[in-house]
Amino acid sequence: MSLPTLDDLEVEGRRVLVRADLNVPLDEGAVSDDFRIVASLRTIRELRDRGANVIVASHLGRPKGVDPAFSMLPVTERLGELGGFPTIQSPTVIGPEAAATIEGAPEGAVVVLENTRFEPGESKNDPAVADGLAALADLFVNDAFGTAHRAHASNVGVAERLPSAAGRLLEAEIEAFRRLLGTPERPYIVVLGGAKVSDKLEVIKHLLPKVDLMLIGGGMCFTLLEAGGYQIGDSLVETSMIDEVRAVLDGPGGSKIVLPDDIVAADRFAEDAEHVVVAATGIPDGSIGLDIGPVTIRRFSAVIEEAASVFWNGPMGVFEWEAFRAGTAGVAEAVAASGGYTVVGGGDSVAALRLLGRDGDVSFVSSGGGAGLQMLEGKTLPGIAVLERWS
Ligand code: 3PG
Repeated sequence: MSLPTLDDLEVEGRRVLVRADLNVPLDEGAVSDDFRIVASLRTIRELRDRGANVIVASHLGRPKGVDPAFSMLPVTERLGELGGFPTIQSPTVIGPEAAATIEGAPEGAVVVLENTRFEPGESKNDPAVADGLAALADLFVNDAFGTAHRAHASNVGVAERLPSAAGRLLEAEIEAFRRLLGTPERPYIVVLGGAKVSDKLEVIKHLLPKVDLMLIGGGMCFTLLEAGGYQIGDSLVETSMIDEVRAVLDGPGGSKIVLPDDIVAADRFAEDAEHVVVAATGIPDGSIGLDIGPVTIRRFSAVIEEAASVFWNGPMGVFEWEAFRAGTAGVAEAVAASGGYTVVGGGDSVAALRLLGRDGDVSFVSSGGGAGLQMLEGKTLPGIAVLERWS
């Protein structure tokens, strides 16, 4: 698949709509992690430098229609601060007010449309929303890798209507995942965490034949431990997944799955809960596993540090609470220390790397969570596939 890129567009003096993924966490109305904004700057800067009039579109959260709590305004302000260029917030996503904002914007200013999900038709790829977006620009650039697994009006519909290309971030993301999807150098280790095995079972199945080992921690490991016949106490479990998970564990490649040896178990789900380290094979009743234990951290770290290729997605424990952070921090350190080709995706894993100041020590920090997992499942992502028509 060869996609058109910014190199294929004549952008000077043209209105260029950039779909970025600026879906960042907010804390009391302020941006609390600007990684995705920073990652989007390269494309926006290049387009400005080449004389384009840049319009940025993104979703933020999952609002049900117009909701001021999900306004793009804090993101727009941070984009301007980080980019060092003026930004203007459009009051709407599409329509005459958005058009007037773009029309009236001074040269060099970047107009940010309101949250695309304020339009109820956005997530249904409604032609009226795609038409409305296409009417605002001459060219379209998709740089929203994190949203590429969605077929929405602002990434797919609009790309069917305007001459389109991939942005620099999207290009880099595709390249990083291609390296893992092709013939990665061995040993190839995948580390998965996060709450739910149901979100990751497809990727586990798809990747098992390709990897040398798959290390699994986080809330999802308890469903695997239970399926393996172990006692998990009151830990998180997806009972409906047990049979399917057992089939994977017992099937070809199941022996490549490495589960924790020990677990930090708490007496309740709380930041200040009493906690002890117990064997992962026998978590007592009344205890909840909230992190992987020190033996597991050492074992996982040794495997990761020896790997030639590593992909990591998902925290090993309740990373937000300091008492249950060591597992995620340990994996982050090991990935950063590995001399192999390392790709990290997913908000919490990336946040852990950044917290440790080790994000510069991995080969590629992906701006995608679900999108990266779907790439590794071998799926064709609609936000990328639609660009092929402009090759
Ligand atoms: C993400 O954060 O994974 C993307 O921005 C997609 O968001 P969504 O899961 O709400 O579609």
